[in-house]
Amino acid sequence: MIRLGVNIDHVATLRNARGETYPSPVQAAAFAELGGADNITCHLREDRRHIRDADVELLRRTIQVPLNFEIAATDEMVRIAGQTRPHAVTLVPEKRQELTTEGGLDLNQASKKLGEQIKALRDLGIVVSLFVEPEVEDMVMAHKLGAQAIEIHSGHYCRKMQEAKTTAEQVALLKPLQEAARVAHDQGLQVHVGHGLNYGNAQWMQHVPHLEEANIGHAIVARAVFVGLPQAVREMKALLNDPQYRPYIGG
Ligand code: PXP
Repeated sequence: MIRLGVNIDHVATLRNARGETYPSPVQAAAFAELGGADNITCHLREDRRHIRDADVELLRRTIQVPLNFEIAATDEMVRIAGQTRPHAVTLVPEKRQELTTEGGLDLNQASKKLGEQIKALRDLGIVVSLFVEPEVEDMVMAHKLGAQAIEIHSGHYCRKMQEAKTTAEQVALLKPLQEAARVAHDQGLQVHVGHGLNYGNAQWMQHVPHLEEANIGHAIVARAVFVGLPQAVREMKALLNDPQYRPYIGG
């Protein structure tokens, strides 16, 4: 079974847009759990544009499923992770100007410090995952750095899928993800995927070998506006796991 991690950042974005206390990302997490979310993901960005420190604290205390805490590899964030003690930390690159995380970590430029941060988090019993491009060398580097999991960046794949016209093209686009997943698995890494997945492309993830988890935010929160969060989560889980499931596709 491919686990579904529901990213609830966008609920916080909506709350902050009006300077209100609602909708609450913590309540959203509870509704996502009702729909079968296997974990809850939130990204505490350095500029706190959506999730805030108090949200992380409350999520940690209230959700019943594991928390996947997404952060940049900075001293501040690693310290907060140490205090929060989530089940997992996913380390991502972060630029202030970007709308969302735009690519995987550059592991060729990875410093000794990144290895030390990974070790410090692991020593606290936290599972450490690195958000990386579907490149074979990155899988090997992630293992060398001491990570237990990688989250393969599916953003570029998803963009290209929008333009693919034939099934042959769609199948070919999966190759880099499949190859990266195989190598990651050979290195003993758990294989996760995330970014850009939606109700039109998530079913293809069933063809990625060894895939254990998909982390999905925007598409689920967007669909929840029409069908409610539990239903949006149920539909996405079916897409990830049921080869027969054919949903209404609205985006
Ligand atoms: N995984 C990572 C590492 C991300 O940064 C994001 C975006 O916050 C996601 C998954 C979810 O991406 P999307 O909102 O496109 O589903």
